[in-house]
Amino acid sequence: MAHISSNFILLCLLFFISPGQGQAKSNLTVYTSNTVPKVGSNSTQDVANYTAPMFPLLGFKQYKNNPILAPNPKSNWESAYLYNPAAIVIDNKVWLLYRAQNESLVSTIGLAWSTDGFNFTRYTKPVVQPSEPYETKGTEDPRVVRINGTFYMTYTGYDGTLARLCLATSTNMVNWTKYGPLLPNITDVNYRYDLPINAYAPREGWSKSGAIVPEKIHGLYHMQFGDTWLYTANSTDLIHWNYTRNDLPFAPKLTVWEQALMESAAPPVKTRDGYWIKIYNGVGLGPGGYVTGSYNTGQMLLDMENVPRGPPVARVETPLLRPLTEEETEGQVDNVLFSEGLVQFGGEWKMYFGQGDQFLGVATAALQP
Ligand SMILES: *[C@@H]1O[C@H](CO)[C@@H](O)[C@H](O)[C@H]1NC(C)=O
Ligand SMILES: *[C@@H]1O[C@H](CO)[C@@H](O)[C@H](O)[C@H]1NC(C)=O
Ligand SMILES: *[C@@H]1O[C@H](CO)[C@@H](O)[C@H](O)[C@H]1NC(C)=O
Ligand SMILES: *[C@@H]1O[C@H](CO)[C@@H](O)[C@H](O)[C@H]1NC(C)=O
Ligand SMILES: *[C@@H]1O[C@H](CO)[C@@H](O)[C@H](O)[C@H]1NC(C)=O
Ligand SMILES: *[C@@H]1O[C@H](CO)[C@@H](O)[C@H](O)[C@H]1NC(C)=O
Ligand SMILES: *[C@@H]1O[C@H](CO)[C@@H](O)[C@H](O)[C@H]1NC(C)=O
Ligand SMILES: *[C@@H]1O[C@H](CO)[C@@H](O)[C@H](O)[C@H]1NC(C)=O
Ligand SMILES: *[C@@H]1O[C@H](CO)[C@@H](O)[C@H](O)[C@H]1NC(C)=O
Ligand SMILES: *[C@@H]1O[C@H](CO)[C@@H](O)[C@H](O)[C@H]1NC(C)=O
Repeated sequence: MAHISSNFILLCLLFFISPGQGQAKSNLTVYTSNTVPKVGSNSTQDVANYTAPMFPLLGFKQYKNNPILAPNPKSNWESAYLYNPAAIVIDNKVWLLYRAQNESLVSTIGLAWSTDGFNFTRYTKPVVQPSEPYETKGTEDPRVVRINGTFYMTYTGYDGTLARLCLATSTNMVNWTKYGPLLPNITDVNYRYDLPINAYAPREGWSKSGAIVPEKIHGLYHMQFGDTWLYTANSTDLIHWNYTRNDLPFAPKLTVWEQALMESAAPPVKTRDGYWIKIYNGVGLGPGGYVTGSYNTGQMLLDMENVPRGPPVARVETPLLRPLTEEETEGQVDNVLFSEGLVQFGGEWKMYFGQGDQFLGVATAALQP
């Protein structure tokens, strides 16, 4: 998560005063490196014995030693907060692309890798940082897929006013080429948390949280995006995206815990029977015990062959993961568990997420028989 409505920011100030930045809550050892393991066109993706999931993929448990990555006070660009990671398995390592914030709260994207999925080494420099007028306040919240040897990273470019869904590509995870905002003429709506009824305000040009389905289906690639409902766009080349202004949602809000808004989490994962599991984040409004503004992670099932424009064919009614630990309930933003990465590694599923917009954690689930 990143940009909540101004109304909600007000609520934060009034009711949930956050602790200071860069708090030394975690005493993790920081491992850094000036060089990055070489990734190239013949690098392998996923573990050799990868087993596709079935829906629903359940049983995620928070790792007991979370957070696994925390701000590094010695490194200016990631000294305040570190969270919201994309994840991918390349050459038998888990790679994370994560959001970092410096003391001015400007966001950059950092890179880290691990041979066990828990203990990460970070590259000393950010791999994506603000360079364009549309991202002066940050490059945020990456999600990543690899298609035909190229990494496609969607991220949010933020200029202090508008969030814009942007794309960058790379073949080695270090050098990224930016393609700019993908959906320049989109419209969205903004949920008004402060109003007692379900009120929405139009939001011109606002887009974020794009998760690309990493396979061409009937000649098209697809992506679900959005920051209220989930919307959809398609593409033949992954660079140019076709969408409809004022489109119907791909997935409207449905369950009690996603009544405020929904955002994509990790890119969809294909099931054994050719459907796609989509992990997403939803925000509660109080009912059901889901505190107003709380971000939880859930799961839906997509039939991309037959209904590529939605709706999903099933949803798990309750969240897979909820903000429960102190890192998640009291953070830069309180009550946030925000997932963006899911991999199969070390004989289990690993879901990577941001904790309270300040730390980075993981949850694991058993492989299905
Ligand atoms: C710091 O590390 C020690 C030793 O690993 C551990 O026992 C302790 O719980 C840690 N403290 C915090 C706040 O994480
Ligand atoms: C591909 O792998 C081979 C064998 O390990 C290596 O010699 C070669 O340099 C690699 N090619 C690229 C483009 O990385
Ligand atoms: C944070 O990064 C931005 C962009 O690089 C820079 O303008 C700003 O000075 C940095 N803040 C601090 C405290 O270093
Ligand atoms: C974590 O990784 C670092 C860097 O590779 C290594 O030095 C350290 O021993 C590892 N720690 C554990 C507990 O695996
Ligand atoms: C890739 O990035 C590294 C680190 O930022 C830089 O040293 C190198 O020159 C870049 N290579 C290319 C081809 O841009
Ligand atoms: C944006 O959409 C509006 C409404 O459909 C249309 O009138 C306008 O030409 C579009 N602008 C661009 C740049 O596509
Ligand atoms: C990837 O390769 C497949 C098979 O050759 C091709 O159909 C597809 O268009 C390629 N996609 C991209 C983005 O290059
Ligand atoms: C976008 O989709 C519409 C409807 O299918 C189609 O007419 C149009 O050619 C597409 N545009 C691009 C750039 O793919
Ligand atoms: C692709 O996107 C265009 C524009 O939103 C839409 O009209 C078309 O139906 C989409 N095609 C598919 C197969 O989803
Ligand atoms: C794949 O290999 C890993 C590591 O050897 C192992 O832990 C895991 O159980 C294997 N997975 C399957 C589905 O066999």
